[in-house]
Amino acid sequence: MPGLVIVGAQWGDEGKGKVVDLLAEQADAVIRFQGGNNAGHTIVLGEKTYKFHLIPSGILYPGKLCVIGNGVVVDLRVLSEEIDGLRRRGIDLSGLRISANAHLIMPYHLLLDEAGEAKLGRREIGTTKRGIGPCYADKAARLGIRLQDVLDEKILKQKITAALEPKRQTLREFTKDPRLDLHQMTEEYTAFGHRLEPYIADTPPIAWNALDQGRLVVFEGAQGTLLDIDHGTYPFVTSSNPVAGAACVGAGVGPKAIDHVWGIAKAYSTRVGAGPFPSELHDGLGERLRTAGAEFGTTTGRARRCGWLDVVALRYAVRVNGLTALVITKLDVLTGIDPLRVAVGYVGPEGASFTDFPYHQSVLHTARGETIELPGWQEDISGVREIADLPEAARGYLDFIEEQLGIPVVMVGVGPGRDEIIWTEAAQQLTVTC
Ligand code: IMP
Repeated sequence: MPGLVIVGAQWGDEGKGKVVDLLAEQADAVIRFQGGNNAGHTIVLGEKTYKFHLIPSGILYPGKLCVIGNGVVVDLRVLSEEIDGLRRRGIDLSGLRISANAHLIMPYHLLLDEAGEAKLGRREIGTTKRGIGPCYADKAARLGIRLQDVLDEKILKQKITAALEPKRQTLREFTKDPRLDLHQMTEEYTAFGHRLEPYIADTPPIAWNALDQGRLVVFEGAQGTLLDIDHGTYPFVTSSNPVAGAACVGAGVGPKAIDHVWGIAKAYSTRVGAGPFPSELHDGLGERLRTAGAEFGTTTGRARRCGWLDVVALRYAVRVNGLTALVITKLDVLTGIDPLRVAVGYVGPEGASFTDFPYHQSVLHTARGETIELPGWQEDISGVREIADLPEAARGYLDFIEEQLGIPVVMVGVGPGRDEIIWTEAAQQLTVTC
């Protein structure tokens, strides 16, 4: 029963899409289990670049079962555009399935996200303004609209009416806004229902059947551990659980379905939006990482904050996700930076030292990374395909990470292309036995 969960081990944007894309080739199904179009993946395939927000990147393999699970929140306008874009480029979408239980991001969720951030002012979270938080809030309040609801116009209208009722006060400045017109909304979403019906499915059995046959199922997480609403740097987090445990809930399988959990981490750290970031670099080196790593959001285009690798946060990610292996991406971005530094502890208020990730917000907000120096390398590594062929200092960097985290590094990204990756023997064995 080889279930493999892929999660972000940092603050998102670790390059999960590329790893999922590579693993998808051998998988029976790829299942996204949380988040929405706040996420974004870029896949470079030869001369072509594909950007995904909702559909798992495995869709580039013709007929591959790619599932948007019940734990995902779906903006049907965005999904519809993504489908059209892929069709125009000749991509086969016959493997796409969307859970009938997935909740929908409605036009009022976008307005509420915007209004919520405006109200917070200087204390804003820096959300992607894609309506993610308000949609998950409605789900928890049992006022959500699920994909199955768009298949019945009468039910849909009733549910939108019920969902809008408690929001009247907050949305009063938009009362005359055509985006909130009940009839228009019902019509538009019923039309989406007609259009998307062939893809709407009861999705957990897809995972059960593949796992029963001993086939590989990849559970794809979005965002990252430190953006988790329970385990991340709350309140500067997203509104779902990107940690591995959520794969079970968001895809409809039990914990015994999970055999491996791979964390994806960049060779350095980045974060978008506000919130604590102990190893952040505010100098020219941060700027250099941003430029060399093209650290601008796929979804919002926002510049990402950049910093040194943070093993305190990574050790925490190992524990909270039960990581069995690590994939290091973008190692090539560090080429030419010598020496390198890695945060191995934090200095908090009044000089207190921390080697474990602090749970308290007040500590986290003032914590600064305590770094150690490691040698860098100058050689271009983009053509390297074996760990043994990496420069000694790059091998030393990976060894250091393994030693600090106590889990193996099984793949290493050395460039943006699909083939610019080192598959270690351990990764090959894991995917073969899967
Ligand atoms: P939301 O998910 O749009 O509500 O945003 C909440 C926080 O999560 C903000 O700091 C966002 O920048 C961050 N965030 C959401 N999705 C991603 C992502 O895919 N990558 C990186 N940060 C993200």
